[in-house]
Amino acid sequence: MTHARITGTGSYLPEKVLTNFDLEKFVDTSDQWIRERTGIEKRHVAIEGQSTVDLAERAARNAIDSAGIKPQDIDLIVVATTTPDRIFPSTACLLQSRLDVHGCPAFDIQAVCTGFVYALGVAEKFIKSGSSRRALVVGAETLSRLLNWNDRSTCVLFGDGAGAVVLEASEEPGILSTHLHADGDYEALLRVPYGVSQGFEAMDEVNSKIEMRGNEVFKMAVNTLGRIVDETLAANELEKTDIDWLVPHQANIRIIQATARKLKMPMERVVVTVQEHGNTSAASVPLALDTAVRDGRIQRGELLLLEAFGGGFTWGSALLRY
Ligand code: ACO
Repeated sequence: MTHARITGTGSYLPEKVLTNFDLEKFVDTSDQWIRERTGIEKRHVAIEGQSTVDLAERAARNAIDSAGIKPQDIDLIVVATTTPDRIFPSTACLLQSRLDVHGCPAFDIQAVCTGFVYALGVAEKFIKSGSSRRALVVGAETLSRLLNWNDRSTCVLFGDGAGAVVLEASEEPGILSTHLHADGDYEALLRVPYGVSQGFEAMDEVNSKIEMRGNEVFKMAVNTLGRIVDETLAANELEKTDIDWLVPHQANIRIIQATARKLKMPMERVVVTVQEHGNTSAASVPLALDTAVRDGRIQRGELLLLEAFGGGFTWGSALLRY
């Protein structure tokens, strides 16, 4: 049986940094409030002219290098993003051109913060069905462009970044299962209430930015992520103690701690990077994965549980043997 195995990881954060203290200067907040409620210390922000595909390309090249392959070996490109460069072509097609890759399928997936887990699930199915042998799966966002910088309840939470993996057909086990879900009834809790189909004349400075009822999203996220942990373990007939590393979506340290408690995992076995970059939406899971692979925490053969929750609502998990 053919498996889909991660053979390379990469990530990229823009050089420009906004600390909590920087935010204190223009919005009514404090470093203490942000740290205590979210765990975030700073976020990286794309400068003018720097776009999602720029970030995606840096992360993708790092992942391709770490897999020891050439861009031209890639035969599928999937980019998860909520902040594409263009209405079309897709960010995946723009990235394909940057990488000088031609002819293979390339498309975007939009599942907000769960986007990377969705993209991984889709790419895995391409590989297991024999349609692809080497997929590039990227999560890349410039969420800063969707923020109302006068709204302290959202602008302190998000940041820009990109993460990527190379997923290859292998005889050795890799991804063991993916679990993807959505429930469209919750739009009012988390959304950007503007879309192309409404016509550009309907867009204004406020309705084109993120709106969130944070407290309600928080409770839904904690409960839903607890359930998906159970679903993933049951599907693989595994115990909580079998998991070596939890690699969660990096939205809020309190949500991450609640999921770790549910798994009875000590925080030493949980990859936490939210302090470094805030919520980077689709980029956050591959960013955390790449960080822990590069610093040597995650070792070959270990069992990883990736999970995410985001706008839609969407949520999902991936269990994999690294
Ligand atoms: N600085 C200071 N005070 C603030 C700030 C701020 N940045 N933001 C809100 N407050 C105030 C509120 O006005 C409120 O004041 P009040 O008590 O006088 O009314 C108080 O702090 C408490 O507000 P809450 O919203 O109840 O605070 P809470 O503890 O819920 O924390 C937070 C808010 C951090 C947003 C939290 O609810 C959260 O993390 N929610 C989940 C967000 C998330 O995970 N999203 C994931 C998906 S994102 C995606 O898909 C794009």
